[in-house]
Amino acid sequence: MLSKSHLCGVVSLAVFALLWRPSLQQTLPVCLSLPIPPTTPAIAFKNVVAFGASWMDDGHRTGGAATATAATSDPNKQFTGRASNGPTLVEFLAKNTGLFHDASAAAATGTCRPGLLNANLTNMAFSGASCDNKIFGQPDPTKAPFSVVQQVQMAIAAGLPDSATTLYVFLPATQDITGLKSQNDPVMEANVAACYQNSMLAIAAAGGKNFVLATSYPYNMAPETANSNRTVLQQEVAAVNAGLYAVPAAVKASFPTSNTWVMDMVYVVRDYVMANAQLFYGAGANIVDACSAGGTATAACQQAGPDLFLWWDGHHPTRKSHSLYAQVLYYYLSQTPFTGPLV
Ligand SMILES: *[C@@H]1O[C@H](CO)[C@@H](O)[C@H](O)[C@H]1NC(C)=O
Ligand SMILES: *[C@@H]1O[C@H](CO)[C@@H](O)[C@H](O)[C@H]1NC(C)=O
Repeated sequence: MLSKSHLCGVVSLAVFALLWRPSLQQTLPVCLSLPIPPTTPAIAFKNVVAFGASWMDDGHRTGGAATATAATSDPNKQFTGRASNGPTLVEFLAKNTGLFHDASAAAATGTCRPGLLNANLTNMAFSGASCDNKIFGQPDPTKAPFSVVQQVQMAIAAGLPDSATTLYVFLPATQDITGLKSQNDPVMEANVAACYQNSMLAIAAAGGKNFVLATSYPYNMAPETANSNRTVLQQEVAAVNAGLYAVPAAVKASFPTSNTWVMDMVYVVRDYVMANAQLFYGAGANIVDACSAGGTATAACQQAGPDLFLWWDGHHPTRKSHSLYAQVLYYYLSQTPFTGPLV
């Protein structure tokens, strides 16, 4: 068995190697113990507004109202209205609905801890969305899932909460990668970044001040891509992310008093969480396979325990992973000054 100090050494080496990547201006703490060290964001956020797709959708818009609680939900089953077996990362971050305020129940799952933002969540994310239906030429936007563009319009129309204490979280949709159909089409890739940029600018013009833009996660490592050409997919992710990395700086250039963070999901998922899987998930961690099939954990996953799995299904995280990503995001928010990309 590896000693903790040995693990720290391994992690340090991994992170040291990453420091040579030019896009990484700041990495996460090296010597990890779970949970990620609690830190306090400089801004006491009271509201989180989320835009995106099924990585964040809590079912509020699709009829699957959030009725189950962390304490009563079955970790081997799809959690009401979500593409996961538990709350999504913005829920772990915001902790709005009272679902997860029971620290003892949360602690019992090992996936949540008290003390993330005590904020209300307005979750606009819609499963199946892409940033802009038009990018991929979906024929009938009224029948397509609500795009991020439409989500932003609806949020502005409904009236945005207090600027100073509201955090806007954008987490790009898987459809923004799969919609490209592995074409490596630079125009479409640029359109994805432009779409997120315009969405953030629209919120900023309506008074929004604090923004997180997550980049695309490493879709090429998702279980459902096992039989695809993963090299092409990886290039697609990298190309889309190259555009997304530049977005927060562009928003800041237009709105100098805004605060912007980048959450580099390739770094977070692949280089941080996957690279240290045993540390985060425990011995027997599975970062390759989907836990579930058809909304229920497979026998193998039930036997091992879903919290050992990174992927709930073909391309969505388990509640355990959502919890980790929320903790990383919370950590990022505590880092000041935050005038540029923090990845
Ligand atoms: C969240 O919303 C509820 C209901 O409107 C309100 O009572 C509460 O104060 C809000 N919480 C925060 C942190 O603003
Ligand atoms: C994946 O696609 C690339 C680019 O088309 C090609 O060069 C490579 O051989 C493909 N790899 C596999 C395993 O098919």
